[in-house]
Amino acid sequence: MNKVITILLYAIVIVGCSRSTGNDLLWLSDKDPSVKAGVMIDPSLDLKNDGFIITGGPKDRMIKARTEIGVLYGKYALQRLETLDKAGGNLDIREEPSYERRILNHWDNLDNTVERGYAGWSIWHWDEPVPVERIKDYGRLNASLGINGTVLNNVNATPEILSREKLERVAEIADILRPYGMKVYLSVNFSSPAALGGLDSSDPLDPEVRRWWVDKASEIYALIPDFGGFLVKANSEGLPGPQDYGRSHSDGANMIADALAPHNGIVMWRAFVYSPQSPDRANQASEEFKPLDGEFRDNVLIQIKNGPIDFQPREPFSPLFGQMPHTQLMPEFQITQEYLGFSNHLVYLHPLFKECLDSDTFCEGPGSTVADITTGKTYPSIYKTTAIAGVANIGRDANWCGHEFAQSSWYAFGRMAWNVNLSSEDIAREWLHQTFTAESEFVEPVLSMMLTSREAAVNYMMPLGFHHIFAWTHHYGPEPWCDVPGAREDWLPRYYHKADQDGVGFDRTRSGSGNTDHYHEPLSSMYNSLETCPEELLLWFHHVPWNHQMSSGRSLWDEICLHYDRGIRAVEEYRKTWEAMQGYVDPQRWEAVRAKLEIQESDARWWRDACVQYFGEFSGMPVPQDVAQPERPLEELKKIKLDMKHHN
Ligand code: GCU
Repeated sequence: MNKVITILLYAIVIVGCSRSTGNDLLWLSDKDPSVKAGVMIDPSLDLKNDGFIITGGPKDRMIKARTEIGVLYGKYALQRLETLDKAGGNLDIREEPSYERRILNHWDNLDNTVERGYAGWSIWHWDEPVPVERIKDYGRLNASLGINGTVLNNVNATPEILSREKLERVAEIADILRPYGMKVYLSVNFSSPAALGGLDSSDPLDPEVRRWWVDKASEIYALIPDFGGFLVKANSEGLPGPQDYGRSHSDGANMIADALAPHNGIVMWRAFVYSPQSPDRANQASEEFKPLDGEFRDNVLIQIKNGPIDFQPREPFSPLFGQMPHTQLMPEFQITQEYLGFSNHLVYLHPLFKECLDSDTFCEGPGSTVADITTGKTYPSIYKTTAIAGVANIGRDANWCGHEFAQSSWYAFGRMAWNVNLSSEDIAREWLHQTFTAESEFVEPVLSMMLTSREAAVNYMMPLGFHHIFAWTHHYGPEPWCDVPGAREDWLPRYYHKADQDGVGFDRTRSGSGNTDHYHEPLSSMYNSLETCPEELLLWFHHVPWNHQMSSGRSLWDEICLHYDRGIRAVEEYRKTWEAMQGYVDPQRWEAVRAKLEIQESDARWWRDACVQYFGEFSGMPVPQDVAQPERPLEELKKIKLDMKHHN
């Protein structure tokens, strides 16, 4: 009897542990979904892509789809419902993906470093034995969300990725990922014909160069018949591109698209361009790409970052989404937290992603949101395919993402790419339930922490439209005073905040850089006027006097100080919340999150101390009495120089 009890207790402990200590499969309870349901593959079903249908009760449940991968998605969906205790009754579910291509962008270099990677080295283990089991787990995790594509290497691509040796390695990875419905794509360097192929130039109108791309495409498809295509960063941040030869982005993109077209491959051509001479970096993508609307082949998509600058804690949506009605556009989000505290800060990113997708561009009157345009709803005849990209936050760390909660942003990106209409709350709830526990004493407070975490980060880093006031190159921590002799002006914070005795903020109005006119009415006039511009974007669009009266009745200066204070208070609350969660989480994960929250709070204070004191020197106004005063002197903060690089 005693022995039985001991064994039972032991089993409970083991089961409890395996659920609560987390595992290699993060939110998944099983390596392969073992659901109780009949399955049917029927290519004649009226379903888009890899959509699926789930019907019936526990005794007569069926999963139907047109493809094997559709059935796999159906199984994962059912497994999720079972875990969430939502599969008890009769089900009548029909799901089709919002985007056809749901793609992770890995910024992994061939030396295994990861640009803006905060979770360890590259999971592809270039020049090392292929980690087959880990890549299979990666495939499972992505398939469970519906992510069906992965760009393996950094957008800052080296020509070498297209060498035979590397392509053979890429083919091995593609073979491992194929059963999970994931296609492999590569970032390519525009100079590859010259740099790798030994040609004299990489001019897109040169027949030899065009031939080189055609041959390279044939070589790739012989190795990987379902290869997805190329991602190209050209004439951006010093990388080569068609403009080096006096050609346009469309000349460059179309040349590569023509090489891929016979194999059904696509080109994702990035619109992330800006030059040191431009008086407003936020205008440049529109200036370069809008005139090319309608010039791109129909296997080209223009990949546009959510905002016009660069993945800041808050930006307005990129106006380019509303400016190219004859071109296929796709959004790019950053899941890795380059500008949001790396993997040290708890910031659940779905609210940021959703804010962009839900933004109405008004390009066809009310109701043409970024999501409507990029899912092909607004211009159905233009969109032969649709796509969405997320810059991955995945590395070799045991927990994959460096921070337990950073997993939730990977999860959210995938769920959103499958269904743009899911709410931040629903996604966070299901992630918490599957990753930790369903107990409401845990879920409710932690959910509230996740849902407010993005706004908290905006508040303690860059409230009210501040942007790009980070430390030089690594972007961790504040450095609004940063000055590097000889540096590009648009890489320095002062280019963005423009603080002086009169006020602060970037004048992007009609009397400034004119960026407000890149938006359609009524947005254009709304952003243009100081009275109607949303306060959360005030300093993005306006240079505002320090004593400007805000909607609260207080001055701009007071509101800046209050927002920093609010951000710190939020993180203090998160720490208290997490302290109370000790009984619900295994010790390792609980302690890991606790330690990171401690860093987050100290970083939030650092941001407040730096920004409030630095901008206070311009405003000449005191920190209001009803908020906590800065703690560390500015001179001390200015001495902080972290020895960090772009990559791990
Ligand atoms: C940012 C980031 C770079 C990256 C670039 C891009 O500027 O800091 O590391 O290469 O975006 O998206 O191309």
